[in-house]
Amino acid sequence: MAIAYAPLNIDVRLPDISKIKKYFDEHQHVLSGEADLIDNDAFIFVPVFIRASEQEWKDPTIAMHHYQNRWNTLEKPAKYLYNIDKIIPEIPDILNQLPYKELTMVYLLRQTGYVNPHYDSEPGDVYHDNSEISIKNEPHRINVLLSNHEDPNFFVSEFKDSERIFPRITASRPCYAFAERYYWHGAEYTKPERYLLSVFGILDREKHRAMIDESVKLWPNDIIQFPDPDDEWAWDRHFGHSENKYKES
Ligand SMILES: [Fe+2]
Repeated sequence: MAIAYAPLNIDVRLPDISKIKKYFDEHQHVLSGEADLIDNDAFIFVPVFIRASEQEWKDPTIAMHHYQNRWNTLEKPAKYLYNIDKIIPEIPDILNQLPYKELTMVYLLRQTGYVNPHYDSEPGDVYHDNSEISIKNEPHRINVLLSNHEDPNFFVSEFKDSERIFPRITASRPCYAFAERYYWHGAEYTKPERYLLSVFGILDREKHRAMIDESVKLWPNDIIQFPDPDDEWAWDRHFGHSENKYKES
């Protein structure tokens, strides 16, 4: 079995949602329409911590470069945009506790529609370190639900059409990790619009493993596990060939 979903034990002070809404109202144009990064209309994105300036980010080519390299160290370290670390200090407080060697890209998301079940593997993704792709590094993707905790709508499933499991994501435990490359996930759409912090980075594998082990001890009933996925399936999708074939060649 492998872990598809685990809550994470970090100390979260939730930000005032009106400040988050204001940040969207002021800056959502940066991604919406100008850089069509993700082929769905279920989310509006606003960058929070990226390796480009506010100006650079408005160039779709630059934005796409950073998105496709979100699993790699690049020449420039990331920085907070629009002083959000000062305006909403709860955000750096959260990010500083997460098990990454390096944060590469952090967004705020406003959900605006139904999110179809999917797994995450974007065409053009670049990996400098192929060992990133392994079930051993999962669940590696981290989100923090910032609103609507009374009505969690996020689900995971082993396959596209298999049973959807809705984990318990609460205001006191809003941070979670999921295996986005190996299992399916999506979100129902219920109003009011909900907000998430969505985090990408290069894992500190030891720290990450310790945090997942801690979650298993603390909340065994909230961990979602599925039968072992096919590691080579993920390799094939990311690199166009399986790991074995790669080793042979
Ligand atoms: Fe996803």
